[in-house]
Amino acid sequence: MITVKTIEEARMQVKSWKNEGYSVALVPTMGSLHEGHASLIKRAAKENEKVVVSIFVNPIQFGPNEDLSSYPRTLDKDTVLCESAGAHLIFAPEVSEMYYTDNVTGVNVQGLTTGLCGAKRPCHFGGVCTVVSKLFNIIPADKAYFGEKDAQQLAIIKRMVRDLNFDIKIVGCPIVREKDGLAKSSRNVYLSAKERQAALCLNKSLTKGKEILSSSEKSTKLLKNVIRNVIQNEVLAKVDYIEVVDSISLKAVDVVNKPVLVAIAVFIGKTRLIDNFIWEV
Ligand code: PAJ
Repeated sequence: MITVKTIEEARMQVKSWKNEGYSVALVPTMGSLHEGHASLIKRAAKENEKVVVSIFVNPIQFGPNEDLSSYPRTLDKDTVLCESAGAHLIFAPEVSEMYYTDNVTGVNVQGLTTGLCGAKRPCHFGGVCTVVSKLFNIIPADKAYFGEKDAQQLAIIKRMVRDLNFDIKIVGCPIVREKDGLAKSSRNVYLSAKERQAALCLNKSLTKGKEILSSSEKSTKLLKNVIRNVIQNEVLAKVDYIEVVDSISLKAVDVVNKPVLVAIAVFIGKTRLIDNFIWEV
């Protein structure tokens, strides 16, 4: 496995693989890799001959008061994980390699980006779509792998690829959890021992939500109340949002009579965590 830091090197390597007839996969990440990321890399390695992992903490998707400067950067550890998961190339550029200081171009997806996580992070998905578009242009992969953990991001990227005719297939991969149910996240390292315990309320609340839906409940209002009650029982937790939306358009629904995304964001102390499930009817 090799690590490159420039666009030129990454592009040359991937082009030469494509010329030799290899199928190529891309797994975009911001590093601080864990088993959630590893599951994407392993799946990509199973389904493609060459796997590129990009590791880039993308500054333009962070808001002014967010954790850009403290976001964990662990390239050496990440390299070991990528290698053991079956990656062939790491693309780990510096910010100056990815963005011109006078860059004026970006990619924005309308509508899908304004609710859920986009409501309080107005520039976030523009930053994500811009960097992912750049990565798709730098690494001409056949398929790109994204986690269902970031369900809104996955829906937005799929829509962007469709609308802008990117020649790449987007593959969604299931959420990987800790043994006690907490969805793995690079931000879990911010949690104190007490907060780590409190964070279990996210998955607990969604499990309760699934139970309600299994009992044929169709009212979104009731579903949200059930989820909210579980989270509010936890003193360290504060609900950011609980939403039930159409899983493709991300528009709010009142009655669960088509596939929905049930998505939550919860502050545990200062750390904002997200989790979700898709309910197929
Ligand atoms: P990052 O948070 O590093 O996540 C990279 C990929 O790993 C995303 O597709 C995310 O959904 C997936 N992932 C994270 N935790 C997961 C888990 N527990 N189970 C399954 N998949 C998981 O998402 C980003 O980076 C950035 O926004 C990026 C797309 C790289 C653009 O900068």
